[in-house]
Amino acid sequence: MTTSNSAQLFEKAKHYFPGGVNSPVRAFRSVGGNPLFIEKGKGSHIWDADENEYIDFCCSWGPLILGHANENVLNAVGKTMRNGTSFGAPTKLENDLAELILSNNPFIKKIRFVSSGTEAVMSAIRLARGFTKRNKILKFEGCYHGHVDSMLVKAGSGLVTFGNSSSAGVPESFVNETITVPLNNREAVEQAFAKYKNEIACVIIEPVPANNGLLLQDKTFLQFLREICTTNKTLLLFDEVISGFRLGFCGAAGFYNIQPDIITYGKIIGGGFPVGAYGASAEIMSCISPEGNVYQAGTLSGNPVAMSAGIAQLSECLKKDFYPELEKKTNYLIEGIMKVNGFKLFKLFKLGSIFWIAFTEKEAIKNAEDIDANSMAYFKTLYHALLEEGVYLGPSGYEVGFMSSAHTYQDLDKTISAFEKALKKLK
Ligand SMILES: Cc1ncc(COP(=O)(O)O)c(C=O)c1O
Repeated sequence: MTTSNSAQLFEKAKHYFPGGVNSPVRAFRSVGGNPLFIEKGKGSHIWDADENEYIDFCCSWGPLILGHANENVLNAVGKTMRNGTSFGAPTKLENDLAELILSNNPFIKKIRFVSSGTEAVMSAIRLARGFTKRNKILKFEGCYHGHVDSMLVKAGSGLVTFGNSSSAGVPESFVNETITVPLNNREAVEQAFAKYKNEIACVIIEPVPANNGLLLQDKTFLQFLREICTTNKTLLLFDEVISGFRLGFCGAAGFYNIQPDIITYGKIIGGGFPVGAYGASAEIMSCISPEGNVYQAGTLSGNPVAMSAGIAQLSECLKKDFYPELEKKTNYLIEGIMKVNGFKLFKLFKLGSIFWIAFTEKEAIKNAEDIDANSMAYFKTLYHALLEEGVYLGPSGYEVGFMSSAHTYQDLDKTISAFEKALKKLK
């Protein structure tokens, strides 16, 4: 397999962009080698600049639940675009997407569209602070919430400590408003609430943590968070940028049947275009400007082209058996891979149509600390062996894979045999 065109493009890109990319993980640093430059995608397949073809399980990191270049999405976008691409004034399409979501999701009553998951989280945190008139945020180590200043904090050494910034450029005073605790640890959460009584505006969690491996939490832990937040008049914020519209139309809130106070969305909601959103009860959302005094705005918020892509994509998700079908395919793939994984070199953890390859002997991994960083060397080898066999995953062993409705059983059989061949190399 040759990837010389990608390599050349990457060399050129390094002159223009820091590290040659516009988002760090794309640079392939954790798997080594040059990133592939993608030329086109159709359904479950992508083609790189050297015309190599891959079955894609990255799916643009989750948004493409219908696969690439879905005809309904393309038609909707094309039709909208011809009437202009942005007005900075309200359009009916915003109402239509909001209605589609709100009439099928009992967990939020009002919504605000923004342009990315990061922006959704940033705004939701401001909303939580404005509503509660408190400053501190409790987050979990191993959950990623976008590159929001106060979320770029890694845990300190104790159970309940202020952490350190995980990025330069974040003032210590911001970090001091973020409490970081381990996932799946009630005691740490209880200690935090005892120590910072009446100070915590919100607890933010990825209800299905999927940015640092797939750290599936027990439902009882999420229920415990609900209860402790209610007792302390703290808002519970589910960051559903990945799980929203993925685990089912109502995301993790619906899957676990837990009512958070605020939910953030991104990825799938925009049908492959830059859309994020946050939603809550009418009371909480009434704090947002111009109704309330929590300011949040955006030139391209509710962009008509992006709204029409979202409407087209979410309308497909609402069809009967859409989610059970995705899950059936995911189970098929996982069972097939495990059959050829004779030496049990890794485990596959999954929920719905999200899966994660973990080189571990543990039966479950619920906590970032339980991931052995050394195991990533195996992933690296597997990764390149799979590329050679025409299977594209997100380029990091900490990233999860996504199934789309465009994946066929033929794709899955090919993927299973690609794993079989790749594993031979790994052994
Ligand atoms: C749970 C979660 N929150 C927030 C974000 C940030 O979203 P975006 O990359 O659209 O800014 C991500 C991105 O991966 C995410 O997975």
